[in-house]
Amino acid sequence: MNVGPADPTNPGDPFSRFAAIYRARPAALAPMEDVTDAVFRAVCRSLGATLCFTEFVNVEGLLRGAAVAKRKITLAEGDQPTAIQIYGSDPARLAEAAVVAEAAGAAFIDINCGCWVPKVAGNGAGAAWLREPSAMVAMAAMVVRAVSVPVTVKTRIGLGPESHMPIVDLARRLQDAGVAALTVHCRTAQMGHSGKADWQWAKRAKEGVTFPVLVNGDVRSASDAERALAETGCDGVMIGRRAIDHPWVFGEVRARLERGESVMAPSREERARVARMHIAWAMEAGGEREALMAARRHVGGYLAGLEGAARLRKAINEARSLDAVYALIDRCVQGRAEHDTAHALDE
Ligand SMILES: Cc1cc2nc3c(=O)[nH]c(=O)nc-3n(C[C@H](O)[C@H](O)[C@H](O)COP(=O)(O)O)c2cc1C
Repeated sequence: MNVGPADPTNPGDPFSRFAAIYRARPAALAPMEDVTDAVFRAVCRSLGATLCFTEFVNVEGLLRGAAVAKRKITLAEGDQPTAIQIYGSDPARLAEAAVVAEAAGAAFIDINCGCWVPKVAGNGAGAAWLREPSAMVAMAAMVVRAVSVPVTVKTRIGLGPESHMPIVDLARRLQDAGVAALTVHCRTAQMGHSGKADWQWAKRAKEGVTFPVLVNGDVRSASDAERALAETGCDGVMIGRRAIDHPWVFGEVRARLERGESVMAPSREERARVARMHIAWAMEAGGEREALMAARRHVGGYLAGLEGAARLRKAINEARSLDAVYALIDRCVQGRAEHDTAHALDE
């Protein structure tokens, strides 16, 4: 049963912890399939992410006990606060899956109502909930009733190309249904990942509610975060794609929001340190295959800007061992030594 809103007399209760997270204007790592695994969450957290979301987890897989789903909801020690994100088309199954995610130690449960890809939305899950906002609200209310931790929703501004987006009314109704917070990805489902995110819709959604709202879409730097919060009045930012290549973005955002400071771009040593750390943690968590995949996904981006980084990306894709990857990182970092000049970021 839902225990209701924060109990100020009990700072240990999940709603009080949740309220504190959102009060601190979070720089949150977005849920990203095949990206935001436990290792990447740890990397981002070590660099300043205040809140993480798992990649979305299919409720049917979760309820069947599928190994992939189990891995996705497994939170390592120290992996807090992390929300487990679930997706599905059947309210009762979503509620059941939320109970499983709660038992796995989720700080809160996030429901994906924004994924536009046909294999998800075509089956009535993700952004398909935007076709019938009333059904989305009723589904969310059912999930809220099923668990004792807060439940949040991540969605888009609408399906597209309607001129007035449902998100404004939807935000209000989700709040009334007991949802604890909302993330607005400021694109329509039809836009997928293209076009510019329109933060004005997050502003309009936020104006009608008292619960926390995170603004998401095209927040790529400290300046973007500052502007997004100033323009929308939202409670925090959620960052996706920029973090894949540049997880330092969380520290940069927090330095700006919390202290008004601009930080220097990471040095070549820092870039190499994080690349090696990520690979080592992935090795520990999942063995060499996992570590090679992590290297292919991230290391080219981590070392971007260094001489030879483009060649490095290609070479890492072809590398067959971690030793080869480490040697490539060393070569790329050393090759740039004489040119390394720190410069201020993102202005
Ligand atoms: C590779 C990738 C995987 C994603 N997977 C998810 C997901 O599992 N759940 C979700 O809600 N959004 C997912 N998204 C969307 C992001 O969470 C985010 O809303 C979107 O990328 C916009 O933010 P950005 O401009 O900061 O990247 C994914 C995006 C990318 C690029």
